[in-house]
Amino acid sequence: MSEIAKLELNGQTYEFPVIEGTENEKAIDISALRAQTGYITIDQGFKNTGSCTSAITFLDGEEGILHYRGYPIEQLAEKASFLEVAYLLIYGKLPTQAELDSFINSITKHTLVHEDMKQFFEAYPAKAHPMGVLASMVCSLSTFYPESLDPNRSPEAKDLTIHRLLAKLPTLAAWSYKNAMRHPFMYPKNDLDYCSNFLHMMFAMPTEDYKVDPVISSALNKLLILHADHEQNCSTSTVRVVGSSQSNLYSSISAGISALWGPLHGGANQEVIEMLEKIAKDGGDVDKWVLKAKDKNDSFRLMGFGHRVYKNFDPRAKIIKVACDEILEKLGVNDPLLAIAKKLETVALEDEYFKSRNLYPNVDFYSGIIYKALNIPTEMFTVMFAIGRLPGWIAQWKEMTEGNEPIGRPRQIYTGATNLNYVEISKR
Ligand code: SDX
Repeated sequence: MSEIAKLELNGQTYEFPVIEGTENEKAIDISALRAQTGYITIDQGFKNTGSCTSAITFLDGEEGILHYRGYPIEQLAEKASFLEVAYLLIYGKLPTQAELDSFINSITKHTLVHEDMKQFFEAYPAKAHPMGVLASMVCSLSTFYPESLDPNRSPEAKDLTIHRLLAKLPTLAAWSYKNAMRHPFMYPKNDLDYCSNFLHMMFAMPTEDYKVDPVISSALNKLLILHADHEQNCSTSTVRVVGSSQSNLYSSISAGISALWGPLHGGANQEVIEMLEKIAKDGGDVDKWVLKAKDKNDSFRLMGFGHRVYKNFDPRAKIIKVACDEILEKLGVNDPLLAIAKKLETVALEDEYFKSRNLYPNVDFYSGIIYKALNIPTEMFTVMFAIGRLPGWIAQWKEMTEGNEPIGRPRQIYTGATNLNYVEISKR
């Protein structure tokens, strides 16, 4: 017998079904609430509100668990390739060798960007933030591929649209960096794997032979996997809501990129490094900055700390912290910011303010230190997050479009002026 939730309201009792997921999460289905009671619920920031059921990613904030399609993130980060994980998220299963080869071949042949799009880059100022460029470029892809405008045209057309985006995002990202540096664009090399190709387009120059360091491409592979999906976070919910109007994949992902840009979300990885650099410049007095983070009258927050769901450690942060030590040692990089980050973590985790609010390092706290060691510029950090998150956004958009979900349209409680009559301007 499934559970029933009862609501007592104005002397009447209303019953609502309880649904339970495969990991024993429970929700009260209030689809009939307004029709039955005339009431709606309100939940700012949707802290207690589920927007959908989904079979893609499971996370347990109390236990620090993160699974992609049932597989623990720890195993995938250690053993899989990023495109293998992308296939898993988008198509719901680990690919056979033949399926993976076909997926990679399809992506590889679409890594080039239409030559007309290169002119768009030239119109941007050198100081243009690459997230602003990326969001615009991704949405512009819909103008070059009009067949993508009908998301449900056919499974083959949907796959082509998906593969084109997975293929072109790294090219667009690398070109936004080259444009900012006013360096010549490097074209993709299809004999390189996904991560190596991105590094080639970022750092190679036409005048010299560039060899991708396998330590760096392996580190990037792990980081992208760790960012690949995270259930209904701010940017993923944005992708699903935009896609629910039957807008195309490119415009939905462009909206997700814009949501990710915010400093409270994906933009935090850039903010963390800038925070650590500020602390270092200020003499490295970690205790002083922890005090500032606790002070309600001070707008300073410990960036890379806290999470809406994880009320214990963020499993991704644990993996990235270990990888940080390994990669910096392999590359022979001694970054003083790492010591400051570790001291900040130690001080904060012993402090009642952070402990009582369950504030732990999140995915953004250490990732920037690795990106810095890979010579990726700070302004590109959130772009790296977007490249990693792309398969998750695509998987969530695909699940929503194939689930025939209604258009996302929340209600509200009106608190403005009432029953006014128009007054002629001469009498105001
Ligand atoms: C990502 O949702 C996802 O899954 C996101 C993400 C993904 O993979 O998609 O995991 C990626 O966005 C990670 C988060 C990156 N953002 C940051 O690191 C920015 C710093 N963190 C905070 O801004 C905050 O912790 C949030 C935005 C992450 C979560 O905010 P919530 O859940 O709305 O919590 P809150 O702001 O209500 O904070 C609760 C309390 C408040 O204090 P009180 O009002 O109870 O006194 O904790 C305090 C906050 O002031 N607090 C912090 C803090 N984070 C929360 N105080 C100091 N420093 C912080 N970082």
